[in-house]
Amino acid sequence: MDRLRDKVVIITGAGSGIGRAAAELMSREGASVLVADHDAAAARAVADGIGDGGGRAASCTVDVTDDDSVAAMVETAVREYGRLDVLCNHVGGTDPRRDLDLLRLDMVEFQRAVDLNVRSTLTGTRHALPHLIDAGGGSIVNTASVAGLLGDALQTAYGAVKAAVINITRYVAVQYGPQGVRCNAVAPGAVMTPALRDNLPVEAIERLEGHNALPYLGTPEDIGHAMLFLASEESRYMTGQVLVVDGGMTCQAPTAPDRRDLLPPVQ
Ligand SMILES: NC(=O)c1ccc[n+]([C@@H]2O[C@H](COP(=O)([O-])OP(=O)(O)OC[C@H]3O[C@@H](n4cnc5c(N)ncnc54)[C@H](O)[C@@H]3O)[C@@H](O)[C@H]2O)c1
Repeated sequence: MDRLRDKVVIITGAGSGIGRAAAELMSREGASVLVADHDAAAARAVADGIGDGGGRAASCTVDVTDDDSVAAMVETAVREYGRLDVLCNHVGGTDPRRDLDLLRLDMVEFQRAVDLNVRSTLTGTRHALPHLIDAGGGSIVNTASVAGLLGDALQTAYGAVKAAVINITRYVAVQYGPQGVRCNAVAPGAVMTPALRDNLPVEAIERLEGHNALPYLGTPEDIGHAMLFLASEESRYMTGQVLVVDGGMTCQAPTAPDRRDLLPPVQ
């Protein structure tokens, strides 16, 4: 119940999916949470839900691609709660219809991906750092993806920007560790968010599951728990790291699903 007692947390993109789950889990552990999202109604609904459950949360409208908006978000948290201990730079993603292989990659989408994933992480961190340092240290939790660790056939921009998020994580860890600021990233595999469930046919979801060592896909809470751990003092000796939460997708040899199908183990 008290893993984040008296801590003030900002989570961007907390109006839905993984960010929402992280906000709910962190508030249950005693944090005061600023639910930040460009969908004002969604952010308000999440904050209200936390409040109704006895937790402490406020909402804030932010466009993480806009520097002034990000600065205002950080100021809102500090004005509302008097300090800042944790920043989760969680918003990200690309449009899979325009983020294709390198030759067919839409360069407008590439720039949007840089702004949404990389610039937003840098901007959020730059505005939060002075407050984290003032508070005697703190934790920054960035959201990467297994796409930032591996090559793939499509979504070239997504892979590139998530790899950048991973290395920004290390730079921030090195540069501000001496002031007590930790910076880690979580790298989710396939997660069953409403967007994934609503947009992918059942066969595609089964194919995704087949690439995991575990026989299921992750939930938003699975990633939220990892973010909570990285936000809390339980990870106080961890910085500059990437915590992969992917059901074993990246530990599994690519041939393993075929072997399971073609060469079932002798009973
Ligand atoms: N879902 C997955 O399978 C998966 C896997 C790996 C990594 N991730 C990463 O997790 C993060 C969130 O993914 P999700 O699936 O929970 O997404 P989601 O679509 O469920 O939620 C994203 C939230 O971000 C908000 N948002 C979008 N653009 C914004 C902006 N410019 N400013 C402020 N808010 C904005 C949306 O309103 C939405 O509430 C992303 O960084 C994504 O790359 C997701």
